[in-house]
Amino acid sequence: MIFYFHLSGELPSNGIPANEVIAIIKAVNAEIKETQVYDKILVVTTNTDISKQVAERAAYIHRCGKVIFIISLPDLNLINKKLQEIDFNQIMKKKTSFAVRIKKIKGSYLSISEENLERYIGNQIINNLDRNIKVNLINPSILFYGFVTEENFIFGINLYSGKRPEIRKRAPHTRPFFHPCGLDPFLARAMVNLSEMDRSKTLYDPFCGSGSILIESKLMGFKTYGSDINQKMLKGTILNLRALNIQGFNLFRADARSPCIQKIDCIVTDPPYGRSTHIELGKLTFNNTKSLSNLYRTLKNLLVDFFRKNSEILTRGGKCVIALPSTLEIDNIILSHNFIIQQKFDFFVHRSLTRTIFVLEKV
Ligand SMILES: C[S@@+](CC[C@H](N)C(=O)[O-])C[C@H]1O[C@@H](n2cnc3c(N)ncnc32)[C@H](O)[C@@H]1O
Repeated sequence: MIFYFHLSGELPSNGIPANEVIAIIKAVNAEIKETQVYDKILVVTTNTDISKQVAERAAYIHRCGKVIFIISLPDLNLINKKLQEIDFNQIMKKKTSFAVRIKKIKGSYLSISEENLERYIGNQIINNLDRNIKVNLINPSILFYGFVTEENFIFGINLYSGKRPEIRKRAPHTRPFFHPCGLDPFLARAMVNLSEMDRSKTLYDPFCGSGSILIESKLMGFKTYGSDINQKMLKGTILNLRALNIQGFNLFRADARSPCIQKIDCIVTDPPYGRSTHIELGKLTFNNTKSLSNLYRTLKNLLVDFFRKNSEILTRGGKCVIALPSTLEIDNIILSHNFIIQQKFDFFVHRSLTRTIFVLEKV
């Protein structure tokens, strides 16, 4: 089965967006036979239908569907030739209406407008059919989608829309407890997905702050634990979870260097950088009144203890997805605590902060 995923485009496709989808497919134990990125379209061949699970979970997709054909360097003749080869009577057997949508990705190859190509393909489909099926642009019983990328034309049947409009509503400024360190909900959700979390596993955020990661994990139905050293943040997290009607959360106050938890399958977290949140080390508190090099030294001290303790409670093969400032040199510390670095993605926040999202595996 070949599926397309229309990626959202605000991040490089080959980075978090494509890898989030791939991680979700792995999490549901489907076999991935092949993947290919065409600009903002990810095409994945799997052994089973994973489109619904991905659409319900992924933060960085607009929509997904089944691929009918892909052609390189398309022109109208080539598109028409391909359409003639397709048995639309079979595809539209029980359907009463249809529509065609075309999306041209920036830098796309064909000069024909989206509307004209929609009309052109719509007419070819009608000519191809043995019976009358109406075009219904508002509520079609089958929706065909075509994507014109820089060099390719990907055509398929749309199956599901992604959750982006709902996720956007959970931006930190909409919460009853706002804190400037609050993670963007798209990134928080993608980090949970990159951990390959599923319903049989447990997830822990030991620096939970105002709760962005916990919110996304709980809304995807996962067993979730969170802790923070700061009581005010914990109270804020409770307010934020309750405002979204999220029940059954497991929150406790703890220093991330000594979590009171025995075993966990995934750790997804965003430690303090000392900019908008304090780094707390016992009775000492550090923030950006110190120089950056002092702050980074303090953060590294915290992370050495964090990685040591948290690698003890993480199951073997378990993932730790962690956001850190991209200028922090941390690889050696990670590698010396029974982790391998599987992936690294940069995420630009503002002029003076780019985060690196690390995907680590406990060995
Ligand atoms: C960057 S914020 C986390 C933000 C969170 N992801 C959110 O979306 O709101 C880091 C958090 O770490 C907490 N913190 C600082 N030092 C800590 C420590 N030693 N142990 C546990 N939490 C700590 C801070 O109180 C802060 O809430």
